[in-house]
Amino acid sequence: MSLPLSGKIALITGAGSGIGRAACRLLNREGATIIVADRNVEAARQVANSLNGDNQFIELDVSSKQSIQNGIQSIVSKFNAPPSIVVNAAGIIKDNFILKLEEDQFDDVIRVNLKGTFLMMQNCANAMVEKNIVNGTIINLGSIASKIGNIGQANYTSSKAGVEAMTKTASREFGKFGIRVNCVLPGFINTPMTESVPEKVKDYMTMQCPLRRFGNPEEVAEVIAFLASDKSSYVNGASIEVTGGI
Ligand SMILES: NC(=O)c1ccc[n+]([C@@H]2O[C@H](COP(=O)([O-])OP(=O)(O)OC[C@H]3O[C@@H](n4cnc5c(N)ncnc54)[C@H](O)[C@@H]3O)[C@@H](O)[C@H]2O)c1
Repeated sequence: MSLPLSGKIALITGAGSGIGRAACRLLNREGATIIVADRNVEAARQVANSLNGDNQFIELDVSSKQSIQNGIQSIVSKFNAPPSIVVNAAGIIKDNFILKLEEDQFDDVIRVNLKGTFLMMQNCANAMVEKNIVNGTIINLGSIASKIGNIGQANYTSSKAGVEAMTKTASREFGKFGIRVNCVLPGFINTPMTESVPEKVKDYMTMQCPLRRFGNPEEVAEVIAFLASDKSSYVNGASIEVTGGI
């Protein structure tokens, strides 16, 4: 029996942890060949080893054009095709109150979350167009925090608002090539990114959520899998909230 993503190559960034790792597992279960990409190559290797089939792990820094181009080149060399599914899950936080936020804390978060998403979209879409991939799909990770604000996250919320806006623009530009671009906006999800949040703040966040709990990375990955598949063939430029109703 053929699976929904059989024969597809999926490049997932931030794939060594949290939501990216859950997306690797789910898309692999749905039949895709996974390129597990992370700045942390050891984490990427471990995830790739846990998957079924002929997958690949690569060291990739989304904030470096050269690193992305090297990654795409190695995929094309191995599989003779670029990925037709791209999940941009790499992301960082460097929280501080605006009155105390250092310039480099601002720049670092914008460079990875916003510029990294731009560089990935630009280079992956170029590779898809060059190799005549006509049913590409790009899934960007935004955040519900960009819609509601979050104390201590001026840099992060700005980067994620930019990701959502850029997703809409990219969906307009890439539509004519058959490439869809969508955004997933998670709420509070149990991953290493939220592990360091103090218990008191976690309790407050839980009370903000109608479902009264944090989400699991797999619950975000299910929506990513939907956007990666032909089941979402007419969904383009959308932002889908996965927040438990925040
Ligand atoms: N966890 C949440 O509550 C939550 C909520 C909303 C949005 N998000 C977004 O979802 C995405 C995944 O978050 P997560 O919670 O799984 O985080 P995580 O910290 O568990 O994983 C992030 C991964 O990204 C990698 N990474 C960081 N910088 C990189 C770079 N420059 N190049 C390549 N890889 C890099 C890290 O090594 C790590 O493996 C992020 O974009 C995050 O902003 C998370």
